[in-house]
Amino acid sequence: MKVAVVGATGMVGEVMLRVLEERNFPVTELLLVASERSVGKKLTYKNNEYTIIGLADAVAAKPQIAIFSAGGDTSIEWAPKFAEVGTTVVDNSSAWRMDPTKKLVVPEINASELTKEDKIIANPNCSTIQMVMALAPLHKEYKMKRVIVSTYQSVSGTGVKAVKQLENEIAGIEGEMAYPYPIGRNALPHCDVFMENGYTKEEMKLAREPQKIFNDKTFSVSATAVRIPTAGGHSESVNVEFEDDFNLADVRKMLHETPGVVVQDNTDTNTYPMPIYAHDKDDVFVGRIRRDETQPNTLNMWVVSDNLRKGAATNTIQIAEYLIENDLV
Ligand SMILES: NC(=O)c1ccc[n+]([C@@H]2O[C@H](COP(=O)([O-])OP(=O)(O)OC[C@H]3O[C@@H](n4cnc5c(N)ncnc54)[C@H](OP(=O)(O)O)[C@@H]3O)[C@@H](O)[C@H]2O)c1
Repeated sequence: MKVAVVGATGMVGEVMLRVLEERNFPVTELLLVASERSVGKKLTYKNNEYTIIGLADAVAAKPQIAIFSAGGDTSIEWAPKFAEVGTTVVDNSSAWRMDPTKKLVVPEINASELTKEDKIIANPNCSTIQMVMALAPLHKEYKMKRVIVSTYQSVSGTGVKAVKQLENEIAGIEGEMAYPYPIGRNALPHCDVFMENGYTKEEMKLAREPQKIFNDKTFSVSATAVRIPTAGGHSESVNVEFEDDFNLADVRKMLHETPGVVVQDNTDTNTYPMPIYAHDKDDVFVGRIRRDETQPNTLNMWVVSDNLRKGAATNTIQIAEYLIENDLV
């Protein structure tokens, strides 16, 4: 495969390269792409040095697959140009996610929707992916009615500038701010921009994307998204009300048997998911599984995953792998 990685110098881009290498993705030619600021710089993949190129040169090279993590504006402008020359784009930004003509894919849940005609495929938001991975087996069995989610999100979800802000604050250095306030020793109830309805864009992604991924509008999601000074991954408190009752042993067993999900749940040994341990892993970790005692058929759980891995790079590359395995590129 001739593969282009667009946004190769960014937080997600760097992990993309690592995941491509780890999974031994069948790359025969690699194009590393970033903004004009980075053209000519060098990056290493599998011990070989590559020179960063610009978007126009990458389109001219007609790669079979382009994996994008370069922000929404870049995707809106450039993904169609790649698609026009026959490239299949898997995009990490929010640009195409809710476009009814584009598929929004978590491979374990809905990759079977993909066809050869899908030339721009959207990767869901990082906090959505880990939540739906934990909800999917339970929704199938007990049918969700309503989900209430509160997130505790890593600074790595905002990109390089935010990680630098936290590092600067810890080192006592004044530097460029990614957030309107300090993030060290703080919690910001503000992920992405505010919208007219008082929610943030991140909260609305959590509300809308699951319905599209499950192709089901019979349940609803209400979200509060909070940025905290962690770097390893996002954590979520998920409260879910089902149509049908469940028992906790079955819930644990079902989650345990779900590929890509790891149950870490033993209060006797203080075993529960945490971002420092989820860091650099591809799985979604679920723990603190317990019944909500305030109303029937309702479950509480704690879901943690590395937002740069399953929340971004790994999910994107799994989509690309599915396309290749099923002869769709
Ligand atoms: N961080 C996460 O957890 C996460 C999760 C899921 C999805 N995403 C999405 O992935 C994208 C990148 O996020 P990130 O965290 O990796 O951000 P980042 O660290 O700020 O990196 C941004 C990347 O995009 C490139 N870029 C920016 N403007 C460009 C342009 N006009 N043309 C070409 N390349 C351009 C940058 O190149 P230069 O180095 O040359 O500036 C850099 O490689 C965003 O759309 C984000 O929403 C992020």
